[in-house]
Amino acid sequence: MTDAHVRVFDTTLRDGEQAAGINLNKEEKLQIALQLAKMKTDIIEAGFPAASPGDFEAVKLIAQQVEGPIIAGLARTRREDILAAAEAVKWSKKPRIHTFIATSPIHMEFKLKMSPEQVLAEVRQAVTYARSLVDDVEFSAEDASRSDPAFLGEVFRTAVECGATTLNIPDTVGYSTPDEFGEFVREVIEATGNPVGVIWSVHCHNDLGLAVANSLAAVRAGVRQVECTVNGLGERAGNASMEEIVMGLRTRKDRFGCQTAIDTTRLCAVSSQVSRMTGFPVPPNKAIVGANAFAHEAGIHQHGVLCNKATYEIMNPEDVGAPGSRLVLGKHSGKHAFKQRVEAMGFTLSEEKLKEAMTLFKTLCDRKEIVTADDLEAMINNEILSLDESRRITLKSFLVQVGSGHGSATVTIEDEGREKTDAAAGNGPVDAAYRAIRRIVGVEPELENYSIQSVNESSDAIGEARVTLDLGGVRVNGRGASTDVIEASIKAYIDGINRLFAAQARIAGQESQAAEEARKAV
Ligand code: KIV
Ligand code: ZN
Repeated sequence: MTDAHVRVFDTTLRDGEQAAGINLNKEEKLQIALQLAKMKTDIIEAGFPAASPGDFEAVKLIAQQVEGPIIAGLARTRREDILAAAEAVKWSKKPRIHTFIATSPIHMEFKLKMSPEQVLAEVRQAVTYARSLVDDVEFSAEDASRSDPAFLGEVFRTAVECGATTLNIPDTVGYSTPDEFGEFVREVIEATGNPVGVIWSVHCHNDLGLAVANSLAAVRAGVRQVECTVNGLGERAGNASMEEIVMGLRTRKDRFGCQTAIDTTRLCAVSSQVSRMTGFPVPPNKAIVGANAFAHEAGIHQHGVLCNKATYEIMNPEDVGAPGSRLVLGKHSGKHAFKQRVEAMGFTLSEEKLKEAMTLFKTLCDRKEIVTADDLEAMINNEILSLDESRRITLKSFLVQVGSGHGSATVTIEDEGREKTDAAAGNGPVDAAYRAIRRIVGVEPELENYSIQSVNESSDAIGEARVTLDLGGVRVNGRGASTDVIEASIKAYIDGINRLFAAQARIAGQESQAAEEARKAV
C-alpha cells in the first residue's frame, strides 16, 4: 500500500442506515456489503452491534460471508458495546472495532456530562479493551471539528498509546468549511505529535452541502482514509458521497496525487441497488450517478460532444458504469446465462434465491414482451431480497372493484401462519385495499408518502411503489413491485407494515436494555 492510497471506509450500513426512514433487513445489508466488496471497498462499517440483536446479527452475517474488505463494528466506549462489536466482527478475517466518544465542549458538558479528564480516561479504557480483543482499532473523536485542537491532540495521543491504529476526525454536524477543515486537520495531526504508523481519517456530514469538499480538503492535508456512504446517505443531510469522493480523486489526480482502489465501473450499479433498497431515490442531477449526469440537453452542448466528447464531459460514462443498453435475456435463456447476468448486475444470490429469481423471471417473461435489466433488478430487490424471514405478514390474494372516485377491495393476508380476510371501501382501489389491510392487522400508521413509478419508459414496465409510514414517530419506507400497479401498491404497504413491526421490536429491545442498565446503575 503506498502513501498515495486513500482507503475508502464505507458506512452506508451504519451511518447511512441511521437516516430517518431507512430500515434494511439482514439479507439486504448482506447484498450491499457483497457489492461493496466486489468494488474493492477497503473497509465496510457493517453496523452498530450493541444497538439491537438485529444489528448484531447483520454485522455477524457480513463478517462471516464477506471476504476482502476489513469489517468494522461501531461501539461507544462502554465495555458491553466493545464486547458486542468484537463478538460480531470476529468472524471476519479482517475484523476492526471502531470506538468513539465526543470531545467538543458542548457534547462533553451537555450530552456526556463528563469532564475532559473523564473523557480521556474513557478513551484509555475503551481503546485498551478493544485492542485486547482485536488487532485493528479505530478511534473517533465525535464532533472533533468543534473541539479544541490541543485537547484533541491529547485524546488522540492517548488512543495511539493504547493501541489505536486509525484516528478519525469527524465533522459530525457538517459545520466546517473546506479551507478551515484542511487547516484544522493539519493542526490536529501536529498537536498529536504526528505519530508514525497511524492512518488519519475523516468522516464528514453534509449539513452545509460541504461533506465531499471537506473530505477532499482533508486528503490534501494528509488523511488517507475517508468515511463515506453510497449516494451520500446518512444522518440528517447525510454523509460524504462515496461516488463523488472516488471520482473527485480520480478525475483530479493532478491536484490530489492519490487514488482509491475502487472499481469505479460499479458505482452506478451500487448506487441504484442502494437507492432501490432504501427507498431513497437518486435525484436526476446527482453528480456521477444521477440519470442526467452524462445527458447533454442543450443543442450547443450536443454539438460540442459530437465533435469531441471532452468539450463537455470530464469523465467517461463507462468509467462509472453508467447504464447503456439495458436489454436482458429472453424466455428461453438458460440458468447459467441468467446467473451471469444477475451477477453482473451486482447481486450475489444463494442457489435457493437464484432459483426463486429464475422462476420470477420466467413469470415476468409470460407477462411482458421484453424484460429489461431494470425490470429484473426491481423484481429481485422487491420480491426476493426484501422478504426476509422476520416478516410477519404476507399478501395471499386481493380483489378490487373500481368506480369513478371510489373503489372497494377484499384482501387476504397470512399473519403469522393464519389467513385473514377483510374488505373495505375507499376513495379508490389502493385506498380501499390499505383500509382493509389496516383492519386485518389492527394498526393505523399514517401514510406520509405514496408514489408509484415505472422502472423504465416502456408502457408495460414494472411499476415500483413506495410508501412512507409513520406509527407513533417510528418511520419506515416500504416498497413493492409488479406489472400491476395496484398489486405493487399493496405489496409496498405490506412491506412497510412488516418493517414497522421490525422497527418496533428493535426499539422495544433497546428500551428494555436501557431500563436494565438504569436498574443496574441504581
Ligand atoms: O458523525 C459522527 O461523528 C459519527 C461517529 C460515530 C464517527 O458517526
Ligand atoms: Zn456520522
